[in-house]
Amino acid sequence: MRDDFDHGPDQDPDPDAALDRRGRHAADGDAARPDGHGAATAAEDGAGTPAGHGGQETPTAAEGPLFKPETPERTDLIAPGVRGVELELAGHVYDLRRTPVPGALIEFWQCDQNGDYDTSGFSLRGHQYTTHRGAFRLRTVIPRDYWGRWGRRAPHLHTRIHVPGGPLLVTQLYFPDDTQAYGRDFAALNAMDPLIDRACTLTLTGPLEGRYRGTFDFVVRTGGH
Ligand SMILES: [Fe+2]
Repeated sequence: MRDDFDHGPDQDPDPDAALDRRGRHAADGDAARPDGHGAATAAEDGAGTPAGHGGQETPTAAEGPLFKPETPERTDLIAPGVRGVELELAGHVYDLRRTPVPGALIEFWQCDQNGDYDTSGFSLRGHQYTTHRGAFRLRTVIPRDYWGRWGRRAPHLHTRIHVPGGPLLVTQLYFPDDTQAYGRDFAALNAMDPLIDRACTLTLTGPLEGRYRGTFDFVVRTGGH
């Protein structure tokens, strides 16, 4: 299913090419690091480009009690009625040799701008498959912090990655300390979250016109390596 990312005719329908054109992070001077620490520069100039170093496997995290299977297949989670600070997230799924993984199943679920999960329906829930270049993209909103069974949780996205023939990766993605949303102090929220793993922090640019753009590359174990 197509998403709503490509707003104009000059946008390449391939997420990789679209990232190239936007030139995001080009000025960062940050080497491509498929571990979520740095901008996905190499990924943007052609997934599969040998990075010269092995990727670090994405850390796992608790799934939590609010996962739901059989979500709609979609890359746009902003349904009517969803309010919040918009986030366009893009990235790739790589194996441990930094080879893009096509056809990987990615499931996302998260709370809304009030810290609430939809447990009766599928708001802010969805699944998709990576492209032939191992790319994914997601349009959603930045979630809010909430009080959970482990204490106060910093804003996070839940995700599960399932590579054909490989083990299931369950993890959570976090936001940089300087993220601006809902008047919340993300630095303080990140600091007090007992579950946070900084290796799973998105790289963000923005906000621009009220919208953030983010990148994150997953590095997963596959059946062969
Ligand atoms: Fe959560």
